[in-house]
Amino acid sequence: MKSVIIGFGGALPQKCIKNDELPASLNTSDEWISQRTGIKQRYVIGEGESTSTLSTKAAKDALDHAKISPNDIDLIIVGTTTGDYTFPATACVVQKNLGITNGCPAFDVSAACSGFIYSLDVADSFIKAGRAKYALVIGADCFSKILDWNDRSSCVLFGDGAGAVVLKAEEDADKGIQYCKTYADGSYTDYLVTSGGVSTTQGAGVVTMKGREVFKFAVEKFCDTFHELLKKNNLNVEDVDLIIPHQANVRIINKLIDVLKIDPKKVVVTIDKHSNTSAATIPLALNEIKDSIGTNKNVVLLSMGAGFTWGSILIRM
Ligand code: ACO
Repeated sequence: MKSVIIGFGGALPQKCIKNDELPASLNTSDEWISQRTGIKQRYVIGEGESTSTLSTKAAKDALDHAKISPNDIDLIIVGTTTGDYTFPATACVVQKNLGITNGCPAFDVSAACSGFIYSLDVADSFIKAGRAKYALVIGADCFSKILDWNDRSSCVLFGDGAGAVVLKAEEDADKGIQYCKTYADGSYTDYLVTSGGVSTTQGAGVVTMKGREVFKFAVEKFCDTFHELLKKNNLNVEDVDLIIPHQANVRIINKLIDVLKIDPKKVVVTIDKHSNTSAATIPLALNEIKDSIGTNKNVVLLSMGAGFTWGSILIRM
């Protein structure tokens, strides 16, 4: 049984903030942000927008693209660490918003920037076990709500957004998800962490990070996990048609291109337009390129996030 992607969707908040529109009090510049990160702008939620509203929009988009109705869905997973509430799960809010009344399981997966890869891995396992026919998998985050807007070293990096895919269980399909591998190393919890949480400070806290260490770890794990994926699937670098890495910093992506000796044209970059939208970067990028992917293509997804968590997925489109 294979999990085949039959629909893509995405949603961004209405408000876009370009680098030179950031508050003067931050003492930053378009030049610094562009050169150090590749980011040109970010989208930030406003009145009436939240992780669930963006997720719902992305999901509707993906369902329309897949040409199936909401009640065909029998599994909903949202990869997020910035849900509307501590509980219920954002996936349940999305279920309600979509009018899904068939009682399908709906839950969130917390793996920070790796949330979408983890969620896709879980959904693929449900499908392989025969427990779902159509799964809705969403990566969504609104980091603008957990940033210290006085800390220029972190607040300029992130934005809000959601991306979604619909998976269909297909027997004997050549295409679909071929390989998933996820990892975590909890000894790095202090490297990228919010300053509080429900059972400690009763709030969400704000993002803190050791930027340079995160940078190094991301490059190392992107390369390791990519090499492992090639080996496990008997592929050469040339056999890979597209790579969609988590979009944290264009310099991390450029290092990956250098070390792995990949044709840069095969690497999808959206960080200039979207910034780092955490769990949403990969599904948003998939949605951006959905019409140009083509068929019989090997697409590799690579993620890395707080925990640290990381992983890779190979999809035959
Ligand atoms: N504008 C202007 N100057 C700034 C800014 C800013 N926004 N932020 C930091 N600086 C200054 C610093 O104060 C420092 O000044 P100093 O030399 O006078 O002390 C100088 O720029 C250099 O700072 P560094 O932190 O050394 O800059 P670096 O080149 O390492 O870039 C960055 C920082 C962009 C955070 C980089 O380390 C990075 O991208 N790390 C990866 C972390 C990341 O992407 N996290 C996202 C979440 S993780 C994930 O998604 C996987």
